[in-house]
Amino acid sequence: SKDLLGIRELTVEEINLILDTATPMKDILKRKIKKVPTLRGRTIVTFFYEPSTRTRSSFDLAAKYLSADTIAISPSTSSVVKGESLKDTALTIEAMGANIIIIRHSAAGSPHLLAKTVRASVINAGDGTHEHPTQALLDMYTIREKKGTLKGLKVAILGDILHSRVARSNIWGLTKMGAEVRVTGPATLMPAEIEKLGVKVYMSVEEALEGVDVINVLRIQLERQQQGLFPSIREYARLFGLNKQRLALARPDALVLHPGPMNRGVEIAPEIADGTQSVIVEQVTNGVAIRMALLYLLSGEEDSNEITG
Ligand code: CP
Repeated sequence: SKDLLGIRELTVEEINLILDTATPMKDILKRKIKKVPTLRGRTIVTFFYEPSTRTRSSFDLAAKYLSADTIAISPSTSSVVKGESLKDTALTIEAMGANIIIIRHSAAGSPHLLAKTVRASVINAGDGTHEHPTQALLDMYTIREKKGTLKGLKVAILGDILHSRVARSNIWGLTKMGAEVRVTGPATLMPAEIEKLGVKVYMSVEEALEGVDVINVLRIQLERQQQGLFPSIREYARLFGLNKQRLALARPDALVLHPGPMNRGVEIAPEIADGTQSVIVEQVTNGVAIRMALLYLLSGEEDSNEITG
């Protein structure tokens, strides 16, 4: 496909191809080779309508490690503030020679609209509460790297499922790859009919964590709460936060993931975030490798054998 719009649209084979391609990319990062010439002459534009630390900078670094040229457009300092539409902005960016446009937007479906408008490849870097496909890919890569497989694993997703594009992309990806996915959190932050996505819903956090191989802890998205958070932050930490006692219910070798940014002491206790079972920092490194793999695959360079041998 020309674009990466969501995990929902990907086949198991496509997911495996992306994860497999990320491994030689990670080797490039580990060997501290600063640059390979694979994407020389390509132009990659990041276009983020919402804040980001990890996703934007890792796409930027991924592009630079592959020798592409990069431009970052910020709506607040662009002609978006003068009322230019998303479509006209995208056509303008493309007319300047962009080959890949990476977009984050608060409106679900905006990357899909863009993909229909431009010939350039479009990558969804998070659209509203809908999908965050590159996060799910790096999460799956991190789990597969540590556990050897995704098939048959029990994965609990804990927290604000309602507002989480990370949860939705993880659910679509992990269930396709044969994992058992459990979701848990406050009833007020659980979407109606979530079980239709093939997950088991647990109203008890303790029951959800019993015997799992992976716990993916979500951020409480204060910016997306419509009418104040219920439960309050303090109640949330006490009733739903991942602490030592709750972690002890999972398998002793269970992995702890968090997409970041973390609210330390709210959804996750600091000693768990920094503990031996946490792979949160590795997720960030793997995010660069996954984004290198995607830029490479979407550029149609996989026939060159330069990376994969
Ligand atoms: N995980 C994630 O999307 O982080 P950023 O919002 O910092 O990009």
